[in-house]
Amino acid sequence: MDFKNYVKRYPDGNGRYGRYGGAYLDDNLKKAFTEIDEAYQKLRGSYEFISELRKIRRHFQGRPTPVYHCKRLSDLYGDLQIYLKREDLNHTGAHKLNHCMGEGLLAKYMGKKKLIAETGAGQHGVALATAAAYFGLKCEIHMGEIDIEKQAPNVTKMKILGADVISVSKGAKTLKEAVDSAFESYVRDYKESIYCIGSVVGPHPFPLMVRDFQTVVGVEAREQFLEMTGKLPDSVCACVGGGSNAMGIFVPFLDDDVEIFGVEPLGRGESVGENAASLTFGKLGVLHGFESIMLQDENKNPLPVYSIASGLDYPSVGPEHAFLKESGRVNYRTVSDDEAVRAFFNLSHYEGIIPAIESAHAVAFAIKEAKNNKKGTILVNLSGRGDKDVDYIASIYGYGESMLDKTTGDMR
Ligand SMILES: Cc1ncc(COP(=O)(O)O)c(C=O)c1O
Repeated sequence: MDFKNYVKRYPDGNGRYGRYGGAYLDDNLKKAFTEIDEAYQKLRGSYEFISELRKIRRHFQGRPTPVYHCKRLSDLYGDLQIYLKREDLNHTGAHKLNHCMGEGLLAKYMGKKKLIAETGAGQHGVALATAAAYFGLKCEIHMGEIDIEKQAPNVTKMKILGADVISVSKGAKTLKEAVDSAFESYVRDYKESIYCIGSVVGPHPFPLMVRDFQTVVGVEAREQFLEMTGKLPDSVCACVGGGSNAMGIFVPFLDDDVEIFGVEPLGRGESVGENAASLTFGKLGVLHGFESIMLQDENKNPLPVYSIASGLDYPSVGPEHAFLKESGRVNYRTVSDDEAVRAFFNLSHYEGIIPAIESAHAVAFAIKEAKNNKKGTILVNLSGRGDKDVDYIASIYGYGESMLDKTTGDMR
């Protein structure tokens, strides 16, 4: 397949990436999403909109984030040189703010008064509450009762930032029910508000819009890497939950001679309910208004999912990833909880960078490649920092020191 002018050709006018994507909505929601689509198609090419977003990125978010060569970590394993795109240094500590500021700016141009979203781990909720505070908008975040308890510090942050956190007590009281609840609220209030999806998932135009807002990551990284080394990296990798940080770094490399890897969470293993590797084990289906590959039972209901990383445990994946897998351009691999935790400690001990446990999956993949005697360079999207994870990980694995073999760098 030819990847010249890829972003102009995909998605098509119906929000399709090959057979994936689209918008499966009832009449009320269709009206609301069509309004967003029409507004975004106009603003996407607007000089004023793009200039304002560029200013926000520079002066509020602190972009560009650096690219960093992990010399000590690379030296542990041999010849593969590991580089990080430091999205952990983006304001609020993860890549999520890149699309939240774009969605907030869109709301401002559309004259909306309120941002509505769901959140699981609370990362998207905190980023959206930040955007709402910046633009002077109201913010309503729907969150399952169980996640509210598990992610208490993020709930506190959202409230301090001025958001209303709506506790969802239906069903399993986690992410899927939070999405259902946020959709219901949006239908009631779509004239005044805008739904802000947290990844490259959901009905068209969200996979496109979130991809566009995240592409800044790859555009910066490509230029920075060239400037640092005089060449492009041999490979690029990123963790995949819904897939937004991955799309952000992948897109500018699609037409280059660079290997690309998406890393899915294998959790505790291959059995149903023990992982959230949707592309690896899933089938074609429809969930939350879009068609993609998903983990589902024989009646097409979503299967339970698990990963140590709350930001990765979604039973589906952005439709563009399904398309890129089918095209053969992007390779998808899995990393287990244990491998991710080892990488979490390795990066902390050897480079002084505590990664988000989601991002540690991508670091773990790079380490596996190095151990398999891969040579050359790999650029890892370090999508976020690990402050939110330290207490949980320390409560299970201790502080890591005693687990690290100082000669091999591996956990014993
Ligand atoms: C730091 C971090 N990385 C990755 C993800 C996964 O999301 P996505 O696949 O959309 O990048 C999350 C989700 O919460 C996250 O917080």
